[in-house]
Amino acid sequence: MELQKPRGTRDFLFDDMKKRKLVENTMRRVFETYGYQEIKTPIFEDLSLFTLKSGEGIIEEIYNFQDKGGRDLALRPELTAPVARLYLNNLQKAPRPIKMYYFGSCFRYERPQAGRFRQFWQLGCELIGGKSPDSEAEIIAMAAQCLGELELEDYQIHLGNLGILRGILNQDSVSADEQDQIMALIDKGDAEELEKLLEDLKLPAESRNILMELIGMQGHQEIISTVEKIISTYPNALDSLKELETLLKMLEAFGFSDYVVDLGIARGLDYYTGTVFEIYVEGLGAQKQISGGGTYNLIELFGGEKVESTGFAFGFDRVMEALKIQGTTAPSEGRVDVFVAPISSEMKLNAFKITQELRNSGISTDVELADRKFKKILSFASKSGAKYVVLVGAREMEEGKVTIKDMESGDQEQVSLEMVSKVLVDRINVKE
Ligand code: HAM
Repeated sequence: MELQKPRGTRDFLFDDMKKRKLVENTMRRVFETYGYQEIKTPIFEDLSLFTLKSGEGIIEEIYNFQDKGGRDLALRPELTAPVARLYLNNLQKAPRPIKMYYFGSCFRYERPQAGRFRQFWQLGCELIGGKSPDSEAEIIAMAAQCLGELELEDYQIHLGNLGILRGILNQDSVSADEQDQIMALIDKGDAEELEKLLEDLKLPAESRNILMELIGMQGHQEIISTVEKIISTYPNALDSLKELETLLKMLEAFGFSDYVVDLGIARGLDYYTGTVFEIYVEGLGAQKQISGGGTYNLIELFGGEKVESTGFAFGFDRVMEALKIQGTTAPSEGRVDVFVAPISSEMKLNAFKITQELRNSGISTDVELADRKFKKILSFASKSGAKYVVLVGAREMEEGKVTIKDMESGDQEQVSLEMVSKVLVDRINVKE
């Protein structure tokens, strides 16, 4: 029997993990610079948390199961609903707005393909209790800053406002459920099915044409005035357009104006209400969306008071892939900086002592643990990527000395035992 990992999952080896950690840390740093604090929620939750208002698409993809006590549970497909629950359970009295971020895996039972997995990671945030569009502007600027610091080049941030489309549909008395169906088709980009649905729902021809025209509209600030004319007889939609216009002004104050206004963004989840945005990297092909988010109303839906909330999540695996195809993932480094090699097995205990001393000085250090002959140890030390090897020999030890070998140049230098960690700390700092 050959053991296999489950479909749609991946193993990450050392090099992958190093690269992922670098990217993760960069994003965490940016989030924390904006005042976000990390939270962690369970990997599984009650199934009902996700069936309430996450949208058809997601419900079909939920990994759910019954535990031994007969409870209906689900592996989380995303983290916005869990964070809304966490807020209701713990943070209703906390000063607002509350800024939270998370990094964790999500599970969706979908057909695996490039960039689409059954277990994937999201690094995202939720800002609870802020105001639109102020919070949205800051969040979008933060998303852009993350990508800037990662030196990702070819990405596009598309912004829209669901209130524009919903404003039109509300005026024509389209029910919330029907609106969700419409949004799902817009999100899929299925124009044919959409037209069919709009006909079936008997949406007036004028609204139908306007809707079809709007979802194809993309541009910069200048398209606002065009849209204004198109929707001039829909007051609620006009309010949302004004909100979008203010958002664009605020974004400029936050130092970001490289957006695309895109009224065709509908999002695949049903809880969004106003501003929505998605980030694309064209080179990724079909799974080009590396991030998505917007303003939503989940807390009220879960029985809390009405609290405006905004958030987004990076699809971490897709960000990694985008960096890879661009060729900007950092070069991988060695496993440790220093390797301590006893020249003979009698020197083993001395080698262990020196190793601990180096580790206590903050130097990443490995030592021979397989009791091999010196030549084998050196070859292993070289494969570990160590920049320096400390050679521990009997004669030198008697004089209270060891030899430091620079693995790059091959140079060797005798150093007294008292000085070895200081010398290595200095050299490693210089090399870095
Ligand atoms: P989402 O668009 O469903 O939004 O997921 C966020 C990101 O996760 C996507 O943009 C995509 O990059 C990535 N992603 C989704 N499914 C997969 C998959 N099967 N494999 C790999 N990556 C995937 C949300 O989940 C919202 N909770 C975001 C949010 C936060 N909205 C407000 N706050």
